[in-house]
Amino acid sequence: MTDRPITTTDAGIPAPSDEFSLSVGPNGPLLLQDHYLIQKMAHFNRERVPERVVHAKGGGAYGVLRITEDVSRYTKAKLFQKGEETGLFLRFSTVAGELGSADTVRDPRGFAIKFYTEDGNYDIVGNNTPIFFIRDPSKFSDFIHSQKRRADTHTHDHNMQWDFWTLSPESAHQVSFLMTDRGTPRSWRHMHGFGSHTFLWYNAAGEKFWVKYHFKTEQGIENLTDAEARALVAEDPDFHIRDLHTAISNGDHPAWKVNVQIMPFEDAADYRFNPFDLTKVWPHSDYPEITIGRFVLNRNPENYFAEVEQAGFEPANLVPGVGPSPDKMLQGRLFSYPDAHRYRIGPNYLQLPVNAPKVPVHSYNRDGRMRYRNPGDPVYAPNSVNGPAADPSLYEGENYQVTGEIIRSAHVRHREDDDYVQPRALWEHVLSDVDRDHMVSNIVGHASAPEVTADMKKRVVDYWTNIHKDLGQRVAQGLGVA
Ligand code: NDP
Ligand code: HEM
Repeated sequence: MTDRPITTTDAGIPAPSDEFSLSVGPNGPLLLQDHYLIQKMAHFNRERVPERVVHAKGGGAYGVLRITEDVSRYTKAKLFQKGEETGLFLRFSTVAGELGSADTVRDPRGFAIKFYTEDGNYDIVGNNTPIFFIRDPSKFSDFIHSQKRRADTHTHDHNMQWDFWTLSPESAHQVSFLMTDRGTPRSWRHMHGFGSHTFLWYNAAGEKFWVKYHFKTEQGIENLTDAEARALVAEDPDFHIRDLHTAISNGDHPAWKVNVQIMPFEDAADYRFNPFDLTKVWPHSDYPEITIGRFVLNRNPENYFAEVEQAGFEPANLVPGVGPSPDKMLQGRLFSYPDAHRYRIGPNYLQLPVNAPKVPVHSYNRDGRMRYRNPGDPVYAPNSVNGPAADPSLYEGENYQVTGEIIRSAHVRHREDDDYVQPRALWEHVLSDVDRDHMVSNIVGHASAPEVTADMKKRVVDYWTNIHKDLGQRVAQGLGVA
């Protein structure tokens, strides 16, 4: 006998064999009474949960957030108090690709963090860019469809991508980021993360502020060129997931500074840009970044399916001291994610170890598929038998006034708002000459795909000309458009 465990069925019964099914004689037909064979085959057929409809391919790791500065004048959120340490799980991803797709394709990268706080889970479900392609959630599924596959050929189609983008000028800022080399990061360790949306912070006295999160890589920004990224698609489609796992297992723990931009509540009304528009940043000259702490990733998951595939992040997981802003995209996302998890994982997804809060749960929600921790009596509230009772005072400060007509409309433009002013600032003031050269060649390469029509190429040139005439001219030259 060795120390080796004996194979069992899922019911723990010693398995009859690792290799032979039960048959009538060595060459005979199989028997229905071989329940072990049936269990193996039936369970195999049920191994997959649906992949995420976006951000399907990714990887993650655990870590810890440490707050080094006193921001109690801005928020009472416990995790952001000076000296606090909070455990976290971070999942990185590409957006458009399926579960088996390559890591180094040109795409934004997801940067989703779950903080296991004293007040329950706080999720910041962001990307590696501070902005997004659209500003109204009603366009999200259409946008994603344009990035995924055609209905007829089941192939990606750059013509339909440019069709959507050129008909949606609010995409110009995010597409500019995407077409620089930051659209192909060298690794997940070498990119920033952003909360992207504006959120509400309120302090113990009920004073309110608007906040944006920036997670700045301590490894430094490093990108792949378009050619390097394409080569890696063929050579090692799992390049990023392998890089993160290897670094952490070698003790090379990646870290990010946690920076915030803070806007006094009253500034929002007549700030030069609409501060709730997800296609805009707040220029640093208006609201500088303040470092409040840092986080480190220091532990790999042990089981990919259990911990990464079944992880469910939700922008609606906010803790006292933090609230949503009226950003329409954020408002849409507050609904979308828990709905996706109930479908993809099941209604009790919050009981799985990676999703479960590290604090006791006293909810009156109960039962449902696969539930194994269930509240006892009383099963209703209010009750007079000392069951859990809410404490609304924890949320004092979150309230603010809004009035208006019920309407379907574009949001209000502020003084300096247009769709091109910020990508123009990126092109004119931020990018180096090399960055600009690569951006032009990346655009030209993307819009030179055989399916992109001559008419679409003209629209692509107009799109970039709106940002800057030099950029438009260089794209026109590259695409051979007069
Ligand atoms: P700043 O010069 O103060 O900031 C420019 C920012 O751009 C820095 O955060 C810089 O930080 C980042 N950056 C540098 N190279 C690139 C690149 N290739 N792609 C994307 N970002 C890059 O100017 P402003 O705050 O006035 O912003 C000017 C423009 O910079 C904006 O219109 C926007 O396009 C872009 N930007 C602004 C950010 C903000 O929050 N204000 C954040 C990111 C970009 P780093 O190199 O560390 O990323
Ligand atoms: C994943 C919807 C915009 C970042 C998802 C998922 C859905 C979704 C349904 C899959 C969730 C799952 O099955 O686990 C939407 C909708 C949006 C929107 C409706 C707009 C209205 C955004 C924006 C960002 C973002 C603006 C970033 C700023 C992410 C990330 C993931 C994700 C990082 C992957 C989370 C993970 O790692 O599990 N989104 N999304 N999304 N989304 Fe969005």
